[in-house]
Amino acid sequence: MSQLKAWEKEYTKIRAIPTTTRQTPSSAVVSFLDFCRQHNIQLGQNVLDIGAGTGRNLIYLAKLGFSVTGVEFADPAIAVMLSKVRKNQLRNVKVIKADIAEKLPFSNATFEWAIDIVTTVSLDDNEIVKFEKELYRIIKPNGLFLTYVHSPADEYLKDKVNEDGFYKVPELGLVERIFTKQKLLQIYSRWELVALEQKSFKDRFLDRTYTRTLWWGIFRRPKNPTTL
Ligand SMILES: C[S@@+](CC[C@H](N)C(=O)[O-])C[C@H]1O[C@@H](n2cnc3c(N)ncnc32)[C@H](O)[C@@H]1O
Repeated sequence: MSQLKAWEKEYTKIRAIPTTTRQTPSSAVVSFLDFCRQHNIQLGQNVLDIGAGTGRNLIYLAKLGFSVTGVEFADPAIAVMLSKVRKNQLRNVKVIKADIAEKLPFSNATFEWAIDIVTTVSLDDNEIVKFEKELYRIIKPNGLFLTYVHSPADEYLKDKVNEDGFYKVPELGLVERIFTKQKLLQIYSRWELVALEQKSFKDRFLDRTYTRTLWWGIFRRPKNPTTL
């Protein structure tokens, strides 16, 4: 179920999804860095931004000195991201065009950590299983994964999702999903759970302001190999 057309439409015409135009880094990324500081977790240098969009998190992390690789499949978003990278003269950034529902173009154990800021909500059940396998392959043992995805408690989504947890944003034709706690723990069952909580905040979406609620989860890839 490729969502590419819907995302291209969002970036070129609709611009309804808040992350499309937002310049500031996600609070999920900022609180992840705080969490690591508070828990004396040393973050490695190489980070992957999964579905990097127009690059607000990638630029923020690169300015902090991390070596950041962004993967993204929508050309209009990539163009904006690259212009920001050039404007900020950042040399520690790579932008790769790739579909995260497919095999990822990275060697085994390339990254020390990765972030998914409201990106895997675009994957269906088969795609997310494939994605988890690829993520597990490219993250180093002991590496961390931050996922920030829609919760069933989200005010905009809670009456709209079907029984499988999917909904269609009518203005875009974009199909996205919510994750129950059980579903998240099932998808990342090979990973150690470091933290999982729901975060709520008020945000404007399409016609009005809603209390949006997302899961903020940190998983650690175990050190000992598990069968892929
Ligand atoms: C809600 S936006 C968030 C963008 C960015 N993470 C942020 O926080 O600003 C989700 C992004 O994921 C990208 N995306 C969705 N599905 C994808 C896929 N299968 N492969 C690569 N990128 C994808 C979309 O094009 C979009 O840019």
